[in-house]
Amino acid sequence: MESDRLLPIHRPLPKKHVREVRFLVPVTTRLDEVRAEITAIAESSASANDLMRSMVKLLHDKMLKYNWVGFYMLEPGAQPPVLVLGAFEGAMTPHTRIPLNQGICGAAASSGQTVVVDDVSKDSRYLACSLETKSEIVVPVFAHGKVVGELDIDSHFPAAFAAQDQDFVQHCAMLLGKKLEATGA
Ligand code: SME
Repeated sequence: MESDRLLPIHRPLPKKHVREVRFLVPVTTRLDEVRAEITAIAESSASANDLMRSMVKLLHDKMLKYNWVGFYMLEPGAQPPVLVLGAFEGAMTPHTRIPLNQGICGAAASSGQTVVVDDVSKDSRYLACSLETKSEIVVPVFAHGKVVGELDIDSHFPAAFAAQDQDFVQHCAMLLGKKLEATGA
């Protein structure tokens, strides 16, 4: 009979010695980390403008594929309505004022829906900001149930915005909406 203690190492282990090993690794992704960081910043920001500046910087610095990050806000009282570029990080864009009937930005603001474009070269609505941009996400910001602006992110990578990114960017837009409501801005 084989001794349990003196198994020769060149022989395969008998079945009775093999146990299933499961590793309990905490599944914390980059998105989870940045989401927690942004949620904390939203709580401590004194104003919506402070939050917008911090948010675009953090998203641009920490998310590899978020190569241009900016807010467009509806100009109060403008008729016809127009989106005006606010805080942003990335290359300067020629599109500082966008009417609601133009661009991916106009489409998101006028529909109140998130728009994800995996390949901007195939979307006739797309207004080019940089030749390097391959994909884009635009998420409306709501305050008191109305669209007041949007968070726009461009990527140098095609199809950069998966379902998790969409959920994450919507969370960021929601944080700004809540801050606008709380500060009466
Ligand atoms: N691409 C946007 C315009 C904004 S720039 O990308 C920064 C659009 O199609 O509306």
